[in-house]
Amino acid sequence: MRVYVYPGSFDPVTNGHVDIIKRAALLCDKLIVAVLVNSSKKPSFTLEERVKLLHCALADVPNVEIESFTGLLIDFMRKKKASVIIKGLRAVSDFEYELQMALLNKNLDPKIETLFMMANINYSFLSSSSVKELARNKGRIDGLVPDCIIDEVMNKFNQ
Ligand code: PNS
Repeated sequence: MRVYVYPGSFDPVTNGHVDIIKRAALLCDKLIVAVLVNSSKKPSFTLEERVKLLHCALADVPNVEIESFTGLLIDFMRKKKASVIIKGLRAVSDFEYELQMALLNKNLDPKIETLFMMANINYSFLSSSSVKELARNKGRIDGLVPDCIIDEVMNKFNQ
């Protein structure tokens, strides 16, 4: 069974993430969306909130599971018997950091591959931080995040 992992902070999930997840799920038997618990980025949404938003966004994708992890991604990969790390690239600016992570992970475990997928051009400008910036300033986030999470994201920053 081909188990792939798509790791991230998902603070919150965007339509760019959902697009990559749906396409990656077609390449494997099971895609685990792995939510990083201890992000140095200090997330705006709690782990429980991030997982709940992902469940709502991915309710119609059959072979996807949502889990959380702490520590090294490679250790999580081994625990789940997963062979491939899925990463999305939006622009050249993403490349340097992702290359470093892919090479580090390859050094830690040569059997595990990192597979890069190009983000849909329609979402190449999109990031969780820009969604938060918009929400904080009462800008529209329709079309940028799944419909079922819009209210929760807007409410988070406008209480
Ligand atoms: O959505 P993000 O914040 O860009 O995702 C980053 C993530 C979770 C993929 C990355 O921080 C990660 O893999 N963290 C786990 C810790 C780890 O394994 N580090 C070593 C590889 S550099």
